[in-house]
Amino acid sequence: MNADKGRVLVTGGAGFIGSHTCLALVGAGWTPIILDNFCNSSPTAIKRVSELVQRELVLVEGDIRDTDLCEKTLKDHSCEAVIHFAGLKAVGESHEKPLDYYDANVLGSHSLLRAMSAASVNRFIFSSSATVYGVPQSLPLTEDHPLAPTNPYGQTKLAVENLLRDVAQSGQGLQCAILRYFNPVGADVSTRIGEDPRGIPNNLMPYIAQVAVGRRPHLNVMGNDYDTPDGTGVRDYIHVVDLAEAHVKALERLVSHDGSFTVNLGTGTGYSVLDMVRGFEKACGKTIPYEIAKRRAGDVASMYADPALAETLLGWRASRGIDEMCRDHWNWQSANPNGYDTPVETPA
Ligand code: NAD
Ligand code: UD1
Repeated sequence: MNADKGRVLVTGGAGFIGSHTCLALVGAGWTPIILDNFCNSSPTAIKRVSELVQRELVLVEGDIRDTDLCEKTLKDHSCEAVIHFAGLKAVGESHEKPLDYYDANVLGSHSLLRAMSAASVNRFIFSSSATVYGVPQSLPLTEDHPLAPTNPYGQTKLAVENLLRDVAQSGQGLQCAILRYFNPVGADVSTRIGEDPRGIPNNLMPYIAQVAVGRRPHLNVMGNDYDTPDGTGVRDYIHVVDLAEAHVKALERLVSHDGSFTVNLGTGTGYSVLDMVRGFEKACGKTIPYEIAKRRAGDVASMYADPALAETLLGWRASRGIDEMCRDHWNWQSANPNGYDTPVETPA
């Protein structure tokens, strides 16, 4: 283990990407201080990260909209930076509950920035999304592609990006890293942490994984008449451990260089829905039954990143391919068929 490089407040650290990033931070010598309200996660995730790193991690249960709590947490633990994952992320739900999405995502980020200002913490890493690009006008997507989100969730991400750019340019000393994730999948090889969506999964990989483990009868392939090689949607899936490692690189870049930056975090390679089904079948040794369904409203045919800027700025590129993504996602799901709620087996 590396020497202690400092403490970082990780909001939403119990979630899918946050828990993997906590693991990567400790591996690189940083100490995460986790703040989460568990609206979409379980404290078990942090218990398991603590077991993996053989160290009790600090976990504060609370909401990012509680500015005083954020300020106190930053001061109590002398945090040097914030990695901000906390927020709501379901596109469909954001159409139904836009007030909740603006509240959690925009007002939540604003509250956190106020707390950082009061605690004199000046480094901020933000979980943005490729959804800010909207319908691609050209591929691969570069960071200077026009921003035109097509749903309230994406609008909240763009609003926070704009807020950050304005504060960073105001001369108050804020440095920010805006990270636009493509499609995170997979899990840590330990099988102890992974993605555990509540209810019916919105996204492809957790849905396939739940079919493979017998929780759902079949996958609905949402459209096979797109202008793609096999007619199904193409996306840039990225292993969550690669993504987690990029956060450490972004943090270290903010520490070692002045200024702020915005980068895509993807692999640059697109896979179709049927490619992912075949990849998963190979990993789990089972057939994944599927039916062709109608297109999902708001979906585009293809989306994938130009990852070149991330490599230039961060010295980072994704190293794990589709086989590892499917293998690790399957190993997590099969070891935890009901996610973190899997009952502990008791000896007979
Ligand atoms: P997640 O839901 O697993 O994690 C989010 C965490 O934040 C959860 O632990 C939740 O309990 C917590 N949280 C939510 N609102 C909170 C609040 N008001 N106060 C305190 N804690 C709160 O999601 P994830 O997949 O790990 O995503 C992390 C971030 O990355 C989110 O901001 C999401 O929008 C963004 N993102 C995710 C994806 C993806 O496909 N997973 C893609 C692009 C961007
Ligand atoms: C979704 C979000 C996007 C977000 C991204 C990463 C929507 C409309 N968009 O995009 O804002 O940034 O996740 O979190 O929700 N598919 C199926 N069957 C399923 C589920 C998905 O065929 O049950 C297909 C989709 O049509 C798509 C592909 O699988 O072609 C990937 O879908 P998904 O995992 O939801 O990711 P995105 O569409 O990229």
